[in-house]
Amino acid sequence: MIPIAEPILGEAEMANVVQAVKSTWISSKGEFIPLFEKQFAGYCGAKHGVAVSNGTVALHLALKAMDIKEGDEVIVPTLTFIATANAVRYVGATPVFVDSHPEYWCIDPSRIRGRITKRTRVIIPVHLYGHPCDMDAINTLAKEFGLRVIEDAAEAHGALYKGKKVGGLSHISCFSFYGNKLITTGEGGMCLTSDRLLAERMQALRDHSMNPVKRYWHDEVGFNYRMTNIQAAIGVAQLQRLDEFIEQKRRLVGWYNSRLGEVSGVTCPPQMPWARSVYWIYSVLLSGCSEERRDRVMAGLMKDGIETRPIFYPIHIQPPYSSGERYPEAERIGACGISLPSALTLTEDNVDYVCQRLVARLRS
Ligand SMILES: Cc1ncc(COP(=O)(O)O)c(C=O)c1O
Repeated sequence: MIPIAEPILGEAEMANVVQAVKSTWISSKGEFIPLFEKQFAGYCGAKHGVAVSNGTVALHLALKAMDIKEGDEVIVPTLTFIATANAVRYVGATPVFVDSHPEYWCIDPSRIRGRITKRTRVIIPVHLYGHPCDMDAINTLAKEFGLRVIEDAAEAHGALYKGKKVGGLSHISCFSFYGNKLITTGEGGMCLTSDRLLAERMQALRDHSMNPVKRYWHDEVGFNYRMTNIQAAIGVAQLQRLDEFIEQKRRLVGWYNSRLGEVSGVTCPPQMPWARSVYWIYSVLLSGCSEERRDRVMAGLMKDGIETRPIFYPIHIQPPYSSGERYPEAERIGACGISLPSALTLTEDNVDYVCQRLVARLRS
């Protein structure tokens, strides 16, 4: 099976894990955690990193640190992984959906203003499939209405917006290090911020809000969202290779684009002139395609030994959130989008085979 994603773990990861185990610091204290936080924050251009157990809790922690609660509204794109909206629900707030930009699939900034109400507190742009959002447009709106911005950068480690790394372009950014991400710690996540008070609040909330001076005294209801030293040990080694992984990913994209760019009925993943995407998972749109036809193509490719995925279903059509609202761009992209094998272990011959089979399945 040609895989959709596969982590690359080498000698450096192994050595760091051995070092963590030998040190006996295998829970959430130990040298690799502050190191990983410092290095990853530095890489993204933020001052502070708060390592957590996964990307979903990173979003929850960010919202908690901003005191978002019941009665508040949070603007999110409808086309994203469900965790973005779920985190809003975890704090009792209401996710308010916004449609996708037709060209680059992320939240469409021109449609945000119309969704802002007196209850709106936060905008969460998601750098979808590794493509950055238009952060200047979003931050300008946020400033005008006194809103906070949380980047959901779970899929976009190292992506550039107007030459700057995503993750350092908002009040808090949230990353995932799940096994299919650009870099992984198995499970894992991180919140980044350049605001010291927000960093301190997240550090406390991550650890049951235990008072730093008075042990076992808890200032509020917090969580156990800590990352382990073993995970951070892997993260430190992975981070050293992130730029190399991005280059490899972009080479893979070049192989795909050169084969699919001229195929009628196939739209290659976008990259706006102001963006440098990291193409987390290479995803194409099949024009004039229905969800049924897309699913038939995917089933055919599975028989050919090729693993694929549908693009995310828009959240507003899914049972916990369905309300009868319509977001046509997200629905179009969701119904005709297909994610192709994007593991860095793929060879050019693998890509050639995937493209040949995709074209054959589209014509059959
Ligand atoms: C956009 C987005 N946000 C949040 C998450 C949640 O990350 P995790 O799976 O680490 O909880 C993901 C995970 O894939 C994601 O794609």
